[in-house]
Amino acid sequence: MLTIKTKIWHVDKDVDGQNPIIVEIGDRLRRGEVIAFPTETVYGLGANAFDSDAVRKIFEAKGRPSDNPLIVHIAALEQLDELVTHVDEKSRLLMERFWPGPLTILFPRKGKISELVTSLPTVAIRMPDHPIALAIIKAAQIPIAAPSANRSGKPSPTKAEHVWQDLKGKIDGIVDGGSTGYGVESTVIDLSGDRPVVLRPGGITLEQLQAVIGEVEIDPALLQKEDRPKAPGMKYAHYAPDAEMWLIQGEEEKVIQEINRIAKEKLDEGKKVGILTTKEHKDQFQQAAHKVLAYGRRDDLAPLAQNIYDALRQFDQEKIDFILTESFPETGIGLAIMNRLKKAAGGNILKV
Ligand code: TXA
Ligand code: MG
Repeated sequence: MLTIKTKIWHVDKDVDGQNPIIVEIGDRLRRGEVIAFPTETVYGLGANAFDSDAVRKIFEAKGRPSDNPLIVHIAALEQLDELVTHVDEKSRLLMERFWPGPLTILFPRKGKISELVTSLPTVAIRMPDHPIALAIIKAAQIPIAAPSANRSGKPSPTKAEHVWQDLKGKIDGIVDGGSTGYGVESTVIDLSGDRPVVLRPGGITLEQLQAVIGEVEIDPALLQKEDRPKAPGMKYAHYAPDAEMWLIQGEEEKVIQEINRIAKEKLDEGKKVGILTTKEHKDQFQQAAHKVLAYGRRDDLAPLAQNIYDALRQFDQEKIDFILTESFPETGIGLAIMNRLKKAAGGNILKV
């Protein structure tokens, strides 16, 4: 693939839609360029959802498997008309309550969307809650297909510099709007079956969804009881740091002991060891590893979600080759955090 010049624009969060930079970025997207921009979850890599040549560039830049469909981003409800054939009652309730925000809903699709965005009968749509993202989509006057702006398989980007690390020379531009908010991606929900199913836990929690539409299930594939998923597809690592990573689950005291024990064993083997932990536990790992990162607090998981991908990337930057992490209760935003940690660990889970 040819190297292209990747432009960088610095844009303030309180930017207005008339701003010449926003107008220019909207024009570029409409004309088929591929540009990364911040959303309230993670940075997205945007392209015109009606333009197959533009969408193809997303897959090439990311090295993304072509059968993995993209989320289409809109800035106004009227845009749904040209994208979907039908909006059911529960979807309507969810949109009223959570849009703009980190909830992606699957709808029956209309034909105009590029086959490369989705070749399924459904299209995933969300309205991001970020002033820059909304201004750009409005200026572009088209729906924007956008996956997370990372190399496929790597941790998602929560800062413009993460996008730069992964995609410089491969995309037309990056809009730097500072750090994103939630730090984990949107929740993806499928309402096409008998019962609503969460396909990916994210910024909007299961409990929040249930409060609005009643019963909601989690995709059984996400709740593997075995330590290692049996289906080959589920083994595919996502959000993965370069290092081998292990997630230790169990009672807090035992988890701390076990992390210390394994860390020592790996240090003795000559490995460069990293520990991903919390402010509450950090002191108990002094001397145990080359890098101990406390990326939040156990008693307040939202900031932890914000920092999770940045923490994984820091280990990569420091060439850590073995990471140990504690685990969290799978309620509230903890469900999304644990899903990402399990994936990052590629199914390496140790129960103590
Ligand atoms: O927060 C987010 O959702 C971010 C920001 C940029 O909006 N985007 C994001 O996109 O995380 P991506 O491509 O990294 O993840 C989209 C997920 C994938 O797991 C994909 O398989 C799923 O949504 N998806 C997309 N369309 C789908 C469809 N029609 N049916 C089932 N799953 C779908
Ligand atoms: Mg992604």
